[in-house]
Amino acid sequence: MKIYFAPMEGVTDGILRQTHNRIFGGIDVYCLPFHKLTQSLSLLTREIRDIAPEENEGLKVLPQALTRDPEQLSAWLYYVSECGYSCADLNLGCPSPTVTKRGRGSGMLCNPDDLRSFLDRLFSNTLPVSLSVKTRIGYESPEEWPILAELLARYPFAHVAIHVRTTKEQYTGATHPEAFETALQKGVQHPVYNGDLRTPEDVQTLAARCPGTEAIMIGRGLLADPALARRIRGGKEAGEDELRAWYHALYEGWRNRFGETIALGRIKKLMEWPSGDDIRRKRLLRRAGDIESCIGAVVGNLPEIVI
Ligand SMILES: Cc1cc2nc3c(=O)[nH]c(=O)nc-3n(C[C@H](O)[C@H](O)[C@H](O)COP(=O)(O)O)c2cc1C
Repeated sequence: MKIYFAPMEGVTDGILRQTHNRIFGGIDVYCLPFHKLTQSLSLLTREIRDIAPEENEGLKVLPQALTRDPEQLSAWLYYVSECGYSCADLNLGCPSPTVTKRGRGSGMLCNPDDLRSFLDRLFSNTLPVSLSVKTRIGYESPEEWPILAELLARYPFAHVAIHVRTTKEQYTGATHPEAFETALQKGVQHPVYNGDLRTPEDVQTLAARCPGTEAIMIGRGLLADPALARRIRGGKEAGEDELRAWYHALYEGWRNRFGETIALGRIKKLMEWPSGDDIRRKRLLRRAGDIESCIGAVVGNLPEIVI
């Protein structure tokens, strides 16, 4: 089964991707967070750095764009091709109101007719790289999904990653795994399951329910347990030494790039995922003033009494 590391804006940058691949591996494709396309097609410095081949050396990566303009997307696909990549992704999943109210991201799911004309215009020309899409299963309700799935099945996408929630559901609450079965029934080509895969058992349950599952995409599960993909493939759990090396390398990388304060802020944010619901670890993490205290809060056993 193919495993994609989901794009997570502000988290999964080149430093995290390279460090993850070096220490834990198990990932087939690392997805890049979206480039927000504009009329002028000028990208932010961090977006240019993120897609640069040297930032992604040795990795298979999938750049992503957020736009509702087929010409913009087409021009960006040429840029992706010039950067040396052969596949790129269109974001139809971002639920942020600032994005959706401009009709971008999962805002494009609101009106299937507009989405159809967008895709017709896009695919009326030969594209320089193959295109995949990352979508939600509707804007307001999962009942929108059968029509959307039928629509997406008509176009030659390299794959269709499906976060099995609606826009309104954001990132929490029950997922709708039945929507993935609907995608298979409607003939969506190469569907990729995404949403709340946190353990190897979750993946086994999915595979038992949908034996046709070719690929999965994992985001927060990999932040909580960076060895998750390796474990899904039958490999070992993350050892304490590996976890220490992981956090040290991330901190060093971010400190060299952004300075100490930002690096500490980023590492603390990341470490909230492995802390889960453990209030003691969270409290220690909040109070931590350096990387060693952060690691002490999250890796290994805690001292008996924490005041
Ligand atoms: C902090 C954060 C940033 C995200 N940024 C992106 C993004 O840039 N592009 C995208 O398609 N999805 C983005 N997502 C959604 C994830 O890729 C993924 O679809 C979602 O978290 C559900 O998968 P999971 O339950 O495995 O985390 C983001 C999610 C989070 C939590």
